[in-house]
Amino acid sequence: MHTPIQLQEILEKAIVEIVYPKHPSNLYEPIRYIMSLGGKRIRPVMVLMAAELFTDECVKALDVALAIETFHNFTLVHDDIMDNAPLRRGKITVHEKWGVNNAILSGDVMMVESNKHLSKVDISVLKQVLDTFNLTAQGVCEGQQLDMEFEQRGDVSIEEYIEMIRLKTAVLLGGAMKLGAVVGGANQTDADLLYQFGENLGIAFQLQDDILDVYGNPEKFGKQVGGDIISNKKTFLHLKTLALAHGDEAKSLTSVDFDQTEKIDQVTKLYNKYEIKELATAEMDQYLTKALQSLNDLAVADEKKTQFRELVQQIMERDR
Ligand code: IPE
Ligand code: IPE
Ligand code: MG
Ligand code: MG
Ligand code: MG
Repeated sequence: MHTPIQLQEILEKAIVEIVYPKHPSNLYEPIRYIMSLGGKRIRPVMVLMAAELFTDECVKALDVALAIETFHNFTLVHDDIMDNAPLRRGKITVHEKWGVNNAILSGDVMMVESNKHLSKVDISVLKQVLDTFNLTAQGVCEGQQLDMEFEQRGDVSIEEYIEMIRLKTAVLLGGAMKLGAVVGGANQTDADLLYQFGENLGIAFQLQDDILDVYGNPEKFGKQVGGDIISNKKTFLHLKTLALAHGDEAKSLTSVDFDQTEKIDQVTKLYNKYEIKELATAEMDQYLTKALQSLNDLAVADEKKTQFRELVQQIMERDR
Protein backbone atom coordinates (compact mmCIF):
# COMPACT_ATOMS: atom_id res chain seq x y z
CA MET A 1 0.00 0.00 0.00
CA HIS A 2 1.31 3.44 -0.95
CA THR A 3 1.08 6.64 1.06
CA PRO A 4 -0.84 9.53 -0.56
CA ILE A 5 2.52 11.30 -1.09
CA GLN A 6 3.87 8.29 -2.99
CA LEU A 7 0.70 8.15 -5.08
CA GLN A 8 1.07 11.83 -5.85
CA GLU A 9 4.62 11.17 -7.09
CA ILE A 10 3.43 8.31 -9.29
CA LEU A 11 0.83 10.66 -10.72
CA GLU A 12 3.15 13.59 -11.32
CA LYS A 13 5.47 11.31 -13.26
CA ALA A 14 2.59 9.89 -15.31
CA ILE A 15 1.24 13.39 -16.04
CA VAL A 16 4.62 14.59 -17.31
CA GLU A 17 4.80 11.55 -19.58
CA ILE A 18 1.48 12.21 -21.31
CA VAL A 19 2.22 13.03 -24.94
CA TYR A 20 -0.01 15.58 -26.67
CA PRO A 21 0.30 16.38 -30.38
CA LYS A 22 2.56 19.34 -31.22
CA HIS A 23 0.35 21.15 -33.75
CA PRO A 24 -1.51 23.42 -33.60
CA SER A 25 0.60 24.54 -30.65
CA ASN A 26 -2.02 27.05 -29.46
CA LEU A 27 -4.43 24.15 -28.98
CA TYR A 28 -2.06 21.88 -27.03
CA GLU A 29 0.24 24.32 -25.23
CA PRO A 30 -2.54 25.44 -22.84
CA ILE A 31 -3.12 21.79 -21.88
CA ARG A 32 0.53 21.29 -20.99
CA TYR A 33 0.43 24.62 -19.15
CA ILE A 34 -2.61 23.95 -16.96
CA MET A 35 -1.67 20.31 -16.30
CA SER A 36 1.81 21.31 -15.11
CA LEU A 37 0.84 24.18 -12.80
CA GLY A 38 0.94 21.98 -9.72
CA GLY A 39 -2.58 21.29 -8.57
CA LYS A 40 -3.07 19.31 -5.38
CA ARG A 41 -4.04 16.19 -7.40
CA ILE A 42 -6.65 15.28 -4.81
CA ARG A 43 -9.06 13.55 -7.18
CA PRO A 44 -6.59 11.22 -8.94
CA VAL A 45 -4.98 10.37 -5.57
CA MET A 46 -8.47 9.42 -4.39
CA VAL A 47 -8.90 7.18 -7.45
CA LEU A 48 -5.66 5.33 -6.68
CA MET A 49 -6.34 5.14 -2.94
CA ALA A 50 -9.80 3.72 -3.56
CA ALA A 51 -8.37 1.13 -5.95
CA GLU A 52 -5.73 0.14 -3.39
CA LEU A 53 -8.42 -0.81 -0.92
CA PHE A 54 -9.23 -3.74 -3.19
CA THR A 55 -6.10 -4.53 -5.21
CA ASP A 56 -2.33 -4.47 -4.72
CA GLU A 57 -1.89 -3.17 -8.25
CA CYS A 58 -3.08 0.40 -8.06
CA VAL A 59 -1.47 1.06 -11.47
CA LYS A 60 -4.55 -0.65 -12.88
CA ALA A 61 -6.37 2.57 -12.00
CA LEU A 62 -3.74 4.97 -13.35
CA ASP A 63 -5.53 5.64 -16.64
CA VAL A 64 -8.75 6.44 -14.80
CA ALA A 65 -6.82 8.71 -12.43
CA LEU A 66 -5.32 10.57 -15.42
CA ALA A 67 -8.77 10.84 -17.01
CA ILE A 68 -10.19 12.35 -13.83
CA GLU A 69 -7.35 14.85 -13.40
CA THR A 70 -7.53 15.86 -17.08
CA PHE A 71 -11.28 16.31 -16.81
CA HIS A 72 -10.88 18.35 -13.61
CA ASN A 73 -8.31 20.61 -15.29
CA PHE A 74 -10.66 21.04 -18.26
CA THR A 75 -13.42 22.20 -15.92
CA LEU A 76 -10.99 24.69 -14.36
CA VAL A 77 -10.11 26.20 -17.74
CA HIS A 78 -13.78 26.71 -18.59
CA ASP A 79 -14.68 27.71 -15.01
CA ASP A 80 -12.09 30.50 -15.12
CA ILE A 81 -13.67 31.87 -18.28
CA MET A 82 -17.13 31.79 -16.67
CA ASP A 83 -15.85 33.29 -13.41
CA ASN A 84 -13.70 35.86 -15.17
CA ALA A 85 -10.77 34.71 -13.05
CA PRO A 86 -7.31 36.20 -13.60
CA LEU A 87 -5.32 33.69 -11.53
CA ARG A 88 -5.15 29.92 -11.18
CA ARG A 89 -2.61 28.06 -9.08
CA GLY A 90 -0.68 31.29 -8.70
CA LYS A 91 -0.34 31.81 -12.46
CA ILE A 92 -2.23 33.72 -15.13
CA THR A 93 -5.32 31.82 -16.34
CA VAL A 94 -5.42 30.08 -19.73
CA HIS A 95 -8.02 32.43 -21.24
CA GLU A 96 -6.03 35.50 -20.16
CA LYS A 97 -2.87 34.06 -21.68
CA TRP A 98 -4.24 32.56 -24.91
CA GLY A 99 -7.64 34.25 -25.29
CA VAL A 100 -11.15 32.99 -24.58
CA ASN A 101 -11.73 31.15 -27.86
CA ASN A 102 -8.49 29.27 -27.47
CA ALA A 103 -9.32 28.34 -23.89
CA ILE A 104 -12.72 27.00 -24.97
CA LEU A 105 -11.20 24.80 -27.63
CA SER A 106 -8.27 23.54 -25.54
CA GLY A 107 -10.82 22.66 -22.86
CA ASP A 108 -12.88 20.73 -25.41
CA VAL A 109 -9.83 18.72 -26.47
CA MET A 110 -9.08 17.97 -22.82
CA MET A 111 -12.45 16.27 -22.55
CA VAL A 112 -11.44 14.13 -25.55
CA GLU A 113 -8.08 13.40 -23.91
CA SER A 114 -9.94 12.24 -20.78
CA ASN A 115 -11.89 9.80 -22.88
CA LYS A 116 -8.71 8.51 -24.47
CA HIS A 117 -7.35 7.68 -21.01
CA LEU A 118 -10.62 6.00 -20.06
CA SER A 119 -10.77 3.78 -23.10
CA LYS A 120 -7.59 2.05 -21.89
CA VAL A 121 -9.27 0.42 -18.88
CA ASP A 122 -9.85 -3.30 -18.83
CA ILE A 123 -12.80 -4.30 -21.01
CA SER A 124 -14.43 -6.10 -18.07
CA VAL A 125 -15.09 -2.78 -16.29
CA LEU A 126 -15.19 -0.45 -19.29
CA LYS A 127 -18.95 -0.03 -19.43
CA GLN A 128 -19.30 0.67 -15.73
CA VAL A 129 -16.38 3.10 -15.86
CA LEU A 130 -17.85 5.00 -18.81
CA ASP A 131 -21.32 5.11 -17.24
CA THR A 132 -19.95 6.44 -13.95
CA PHE A 133 -17.68 8.95 -15.66
CA ASN A 134 -20.45 10.27 -17.90
CA LEU A 135 -22.89 10.64 -15.02
CA THR A 136 -20.24 12.53 -13.09
CA ALA A 137 -19.23 14.81 -15.95
CA GLN A 138 -22.84 15.65 -16.74
CA GLY A 139 -23.45 16.47 -13.07
CA VAL A 140 -20.53 18.92 -13.08
CA CYS A 141 -22.01 20.75 -16.09
CA GLU A 142 -25.41 20.92 -14.38
CA GLY A 143 -23.82 22.34 -11.24
CA GLN A 144 -21.84 24.92 -13.19
CA GLN A 145 -25.02 26.01 -14.97
CA LEU A 146 -26.80 26.48 -11.62
CA ASP A 147 -23.80 28.34 -10.21
CA MET A 148 -24.06 30.86 -13.07
CA GLU A 149 -27.82 31.18 -12.85
CA PHE A 150 -27.61 31.81 -9.10
CA GLU A 151 -25.39 34.87 -9.74
CA GLN A 152 -28.47 36.59 -11.17
CA ARG A 153 -30.90 35.46 -8.47
CA GLY A 154 -31.62 36.99 -5.07
CA ASP A 155 -33.76 34.20 -3.64
CA VAL A 156 -31.41 31.21 -3.61
CA SER A 157 -31.93 28.95 -0.57
CA ILE A 158 -29.20 27.12 1.36
CA GLU A 159 -30.72 23.83 0.14
CA GLU A 160 -30.39 24.97 -3.47
CA TYR A 161 -26.81 26.04 -2.80
CA ILE A 162 -25.90 22.64 -1.33
CA GLU A 163 -27.45 20.89 -4.34
CA MET A 164 -25.49 23.19 -6.67
CA ILE A 165 -22.14 22.44 -5.01
CA ARG A 166 -23.01 18.75 -4.80
CA LEU A 167 -23.25 18.82 -8.58
CA LYS A 168 -20.43 21.18 -9.54
CA THR A 169 -17.84 19.76 -7.15
CA ALA A 170 -18.91 16.83 -4.99
CA VAL A 171 -20.01 14.36 -7.67
CA LEU A 172 -16.47 14.46 -9.07
CA LEU A 173 -14.93 13.48 -5.73
CA GLY A 174 -17.62 10.82 -5.38
CA GLY A 175 -17.02 9.66 -8.94
CA ALA A 176 -13.26 9.49 -8.35
CA MET A 177 -13.78 7.19 -5.35
CA LYS A 178 -16.27 5.01 -7.16
CA LEU A 179 -14.16 4.69 -10.29
CA GLY A 180 -11.11 3.67 -8.26
CA ALA A 181 -13.19 1.13 -6.38
CA VAL A 182 -14.71 -0.34 -9.56
CA VAL A 183 -11.34 -0.72 -11.28
CA GLY A 184 -9.89 -2.19 -8.09
CA GLY A 185 -12.61 -4.85 -8.05
CA ALA A 186 -14.95 -3.64 -5.29
CA ASN A 187 -18.49 -4.96 -5.01
CA GLN A 188 -21.44 -2.66 -5.62
CA THR A 189 -22.09 -1.95 -1.92
CA ASP A 190 -18.52 -0.86 -1.22
CA ALA A 191 -18.32 1.16 -4.45
CA ASP A 192 -21.50 3.00 -3.45
CA LEU A 193 -20.27 3.63 0.10
CA LEU A 194 -17.07 5.09 -1.30
CA TYR A 195 -19.12 7.25 -3.65
CA GLN A 196 -21.04 8.58 -0.63
CA PHE A 197 -17.80 9.19 1.22
CA GLY A 198 -16.44 11.18 -1.74
CA GLU A 199 -19.62 13.13 -2.31
CA ASN A 200 -19.96 14.29 1.30
CA LEU A 201 -16.26 15.08 1.42
CA GLY A 202 -16.79 17.05 -1.81
CA ILE A 203 -19.53 19.18 -0.29
CA ALA A 204 -17.25 19.94 2.66
CA PHE A 205 -14.43 20.62 0.20
CA GLN A 206 -16.45 23.24 -1.68
CA LEU A 207 -17.59 24.89 1.56
CA GLN A 208 -13.91 25.17 2.47
CA ASP A 209 -13.15 26.53 -1.01
CA ASP A 210 -15.79 29.21 -0.49
CA ILE A 211 -14.28 30.10 2.91
CA LEU A 212 -10.77 30.29 1.41
CA ASP A 213 -12.06 32.52 -1.38
CA VAL A 214 -12.66 35.19 1.29
CA TYR A 215 -10.20 34.29 4.04
CA GLY A 216 -7.35 32.64 2.09
CA ASN A 217 -3.81 33.99 2.32
CA PRO A 218 -3.20 35.68 -1.08
CA GLU A 219 0.41 34.43 -1.07
CA LYS A 220 -0.64 30.80 -0.80
CA PHE A 221 -4.18 30.63 -2.18
CA GLY A 222 -3.17 30.94 -5.85
CA LYS A 223 -6.51 32.46 -6.88
CA GLN A 224 -7.88 35.99 -6.63
CA VAL A 225 -9.05 36.47 -3.03
CA GLY A 226 -12.58 37.88 -2.99
CA GLY A 227 -13.40 36.60 -6.48
CA ASP A 228 -16.72 35.15 -5.32
CA ILE A 229 -17.74 38.48 -3.75
CA ILE A 230 -16.94 40.38 -6.95
CA SER A 231 -18.95 37.90 -9.08
CA ASN A 232 -21.91 37.98 -6.70
CA LYS A 233 -21.62 34.21 -6.14
CA LYS A 234 -24.30 32.68 -3.99
CA THR A 235 -21.98 30.94 -1.55
CA PHE A 236 -22.94 29.65 1.88
CA LEU A 237 -21.24 32.73 3.36
CA HIS A 238 -23.33 35.07 1.20
CA LEU A 239 -26.63 33.29 1.80
CA LYS A 240 -26.16 32.93 5.54
CA THR A 241 -25.26 36.62 5.88
CA LEU A 242 -28.31 37.59 3.84
CA ALA A 243 -30.46 35.63 6.29
CA LEU A 244 -28.87 37.29 9.35
CA ALA A 245 -28.31 40.88 8.15
CA HIS A 246 -30.42 43.79 9.38
CA GLY A 247 -31.82 46.80 7.53
CA ASP A 248 -29.51 48.17 4.85
CA GLU A 249 -26.65 45.83 5.65
CA ALA A 250 -27.53 43.34 2.94
CA LYS A 251 -27.15 46.06 0.29
CA SER A 252 -23.36 45.75 0.19
CA LEU A 253 -23.79 42.03 -0.55
CA THR A 254 -25.80 42.58 -3.67
CA SER A 255 -24.49 45.93 -4.87
CA VAL A 256 -22.93 46.03 -8.31
CA ASP A 257 -21.65 49.58 -8.47
CA PHE A 258 -19.09 49.46 -5.64
CA ASP A 259 -15.43 49.72 -6.26
CA GLN A 260 -14.24 46.05 -6.21
CA THR A 261 -11.78 46.41 -3.33
CA GLU A 262 -14.32 48.40 -1.36
CA LYS A 263 -17.00 45.76 -1.93
CA ILE A 264 -14.70 42.94 -0.80
CA ASP A 265 -13.85 44.98 2.28
CA GLN A 266 -17.47 45.80 3.19
CA VAL A 267 -18.73 42.27 2.62
CA THR A 268 -15.86 40.72 4.58
CA LYS A 269 -16.63 43.05 7.50
CA LEU A 270 -20.24 41.90 7.41
CA TYR A 271 -19.16 38.23 7.32
CA ASN A 272 -16.95 38.90 10.34
CA LYS A 273 -19.75 40.63 12.22
CA TYR A 274 -22.03 37.61 11.86
CA GLU A 275 -19.21 35.07 12.41
CA ILE A 276 -19.96 33.52 9.06
CA LYS A 277 -16.64 31.73 8.81
CA GLU A 278 -17.46 29.82 12.01
CA LEU A 279 -20.97 29.00 10.75
CA ALA A 280 -19.61 27.79 7.42
CA THR A 281 -17.03 25.66 9.24
CA ALA A 282 -19.78 24.10 11.36
CA GLU A 283 -21.77 23.31 8.20
CA MET A 284 -18.66 21.77 6.68
CA ASP A 285 -18.12 19.58 9.73
CA GLN A 286 -21.58 18.06 9.34
CA TYR A 287 -20.68 16.82 5.86
CA LEU A 288 -17.30 15.54 7.04
CA THR A 289 -19.06 13.54 9.74
CA LYS A 290 -21.34 12.01 7.11
CA ALA A 291 -18.33 11.20 4.94
CA LEU A 292 -16.53 9.48 7.80
CA GLN A 293 -19.68 7.50 8.61
CA SER A 294 -19.69 5.96 5.12
CA LEU A 295 -16.02 5.13 5.59
CA ASN A 296 -16.84 3.37 8.87
CA ASP A 297 -19.52 1.28 7.16
CA LEU A 298 -17.09 0.09 4.50
CA ALA A 299 -16.25 -3.62 4.71
CA VAL A 300 -12.45 -3.34 4.63
CA ALA A 301 -9.90 -3.65 7.43
CA ASP A 302 -9.82 -0.58 9.63
CA GLU A 303 -6.08 0.04 9.21
CA LYS A 304 -6.69 0.53 5.49
CA LYS A 305 -9.04 3.40 6.32
CA THR A 306 -6.52 5.38 8.36
CA GLN A 307 -5.01 6.96 5.25
CA PHE A 308 -8.43 8.23 4.19
CA ARG A 309 -9.00 9.83 7.58
CA GLU A 310 -5.60 11.52 7.30
CA LEU A 311 -6.35 12.66 3.77
CA VAL A 312 -9.65 14.18 4.92
CA GLN A 313 -7.79 16.05 7.65
CA GLN A 314 -5.18 17.37 5.22
CA ILE A 315 -7.77 18.45 2.68
CA MET A 316 -9.74 20.38 5.25
CA GLU A 317 -6.68 22.07 6.75
CA ARG A 318 -5.39 23.17 3.34
CA ASP A 319 -4.55 26.77 2.55
CA ARG A 320 -5.05 26.50 -1.23
C1 IPE B 1 -10.63 23.67 -7.48
O1 IPE B 1 -10.25 22.40 -7.12
C2 IPE B 1 -12.05 23.63 -7.96
C3 IPE B 1 -13.02 23.31 -6.91
C4 IPE B 1 -13.85 22.35 -7.00
C5 IPE B 1 -13.09 24.15 -5.72
P1 IPE B 1 -8.89 22.12 -6.35
O2 IPE B 1 -8.83 22.99 -5.13
O3 IPE B 1 -8.75 20.66 -6.14
O4 IPE B 1 -7.81 22.65 -7.38
P2 IPE B 1 -6.34 22.14 -7.69
O5 IPE B 1 -6.46 21.06 -8.72
O6 IPE B 1 -5.70 21.66 -6.44
O7 IPE B 1 -5.65 23.35 -8.25
C1 IPE C 1 -15.43 25.17 -9.05
O1 IPE C 1 -16.08 26.12 -8.32
C2 IPE C 1 -16.26 24.11 -9.67
C3 IPE C 1 -15.66 23.61 -10.92
C4 IPE C 1 -14.54 23.99 -11.41
C5 IPE C 1 -16.41 22.62 -11.62
P1 IPE C 1 -15.27 27.46 -8.12
O2 IPE C 1 -15.50 28.40 -9.23
O3 IPE C 1 -15.49 27.94 -6.73
O4 IPE C 1 -13.75 26.94 -8.21
P2 IPE C 1 -12.47 27.85 -8.09
O5 IPE C 1 -12.57 28.56 -6.77
O6 IPE C 1 -12.50 28.79 -9.25
O7 IPE C 1 -11.32 26.89 -8.12
MG1 MG D 1 -14.06 29.61 -10.22
MG1 MG E 1 -17.00 28.70 -10.65
MG1 MG F 1 -14.01 28.84 -5.47
